[in-house]
Amino acid sequence: MRALIVPTGCSGIDELRIEQRPEPKPGPLQVLLRVRAVSLNYRDQAVVTGNYFGGKASRDMILLSDGAGEVLAVGDGVTRWRPGDRVMPIFSQVPPAGSPGAPALPLGSPLDGMGAEQVVCYEDGLVAIPEHLSFEEAACLPCAAVTAWHALMCAGRPVIPGDVVLVLGSGGVSVFALQLARAAGAQVIATSSSDDKLTRLTALGAAAGINYRTTPDWDAEVMRLTGNHGADCIVEVGGAGTLARSFRSLAHGGKIGLIGVLTGPAGDTNPHAIMLKGGTLHGIFVGNREMFERLNRAISVNRIRPVIDRVYEFDQAHAAFRQHVSGNFIGKVVIRL
Ligand SMILES: NC(=O)c1ccc[n+]([C@@H]2O[C@H](COP(=O)([O-])OP(=O)(O)OC[C@H]3O[C@@H](n4cnc5c(N)ncnc54)[C@H](OP(=O)(O)O)[C@@H]3O)[C@@H](O)[C@H]2O)c1
Repeated sequence: MRALIVPTGCSGIDELRIEQRPEPKPGPLQVLLRVRAVSLNYRDQAVVTGNYFGGKASRDMILLSDGAGEVLAVGDGVTRWRPGDRVMPIFSQVPPAGSPGAPALPLGSPLDGMGAEQVVCYEDGLVAIPEHLSFEEAACLPCAAVTAWHALMCAGRPVIPGDVVLVLGSGGVSVFALQLARAAGAQVIATSSSDDKLTRLTALGAAAGINYRTTPDWDAEVMRLTGNHGADCIVEVGGAGTLARSFRSLAHGGKIGLIGVLTGPAGDTNPHAIMLKGGTLHGIFVGNREMFERLNRAISVNRIRPVIDRVYEFDQAHAAFRQHVSGNFIGKVVIRL
């Protein structure tokens, strides 16, 4: 079978390889999947360039945390799944070579990921795909959508109708947050580097968009747009470089889901604004099975479809990564396997 490999010491997209690997076999309580599609997250770029936590790849590793496929075969003792079931992996998994009770780790670093035609997972590491979604759409959910759901619905007070939700940028996490917040009856304000992308975000349901390049004081604009109320929930994917403005954009008693590092690791953020507003800051690390299953119910009931910018074939994986690194996309970039 073919697998997308990030080689030991990898520092760039040109070094990625598509290799033949032996077909894996499911052990007791394990499930063999035929992966049909995978999607790219920002962290996959970091893994490829050697900037993910832990630095460069220390072994030849199968890339990508997010995918979707169908069950080909099950090992002894499996009760949750049957051949033909359509499934997605939870972001953090028990290593296939470990006992079922071992600690879970993220797919696609440090564990081998979903970028292969066949993978093996423990049965507990999978959830069912909502019926109305294709494999390509389902492949977008495990990291980005679960993270957005966690920030909106599980961290602190869940978002309710009438809340103002601020999403930063137009990537995977932020576009899911927009869609889910709209389904919850919230008003969404989106920021982006591009007016064209803001037009697309408005078409997806954002009430207002702010270009953070041409309006660097976007926090003041959030306050103006909301009549000085601010955002009740902020999906913070920027990190150190945007956090001070997020604090200033927050409503009294509001919450910030601290998710991303798009502006790098260092900064000198003044936290006074969040203190004076009685706000809360929640560190978010993707999410667990229960969150993923509740998200799937919300996606099914609201007939939400992930926003896919482009689907590539497996032998175009390098091109998919180049588009993702360029930032010239909204939502998700997908590879079909
Ligand atoms: N903690 C967790 O569990 C978790 C889970 C998932 C992701 N993350 C992190 O969250 C971040 C987003 O991940 P992703 O996969 O959704 O990214 P992505 O799909 O690669 O999207 C990146 C987008 O972010 C926007 N952006 C870049 N710099 C920005 C800035 N200074 N201010 C506002 N927006 C900016 C850009 O959109 P525009 O061109 O529209 O500006 C860019 O296209 C990453 O740092 C990732 O590592 C963390």
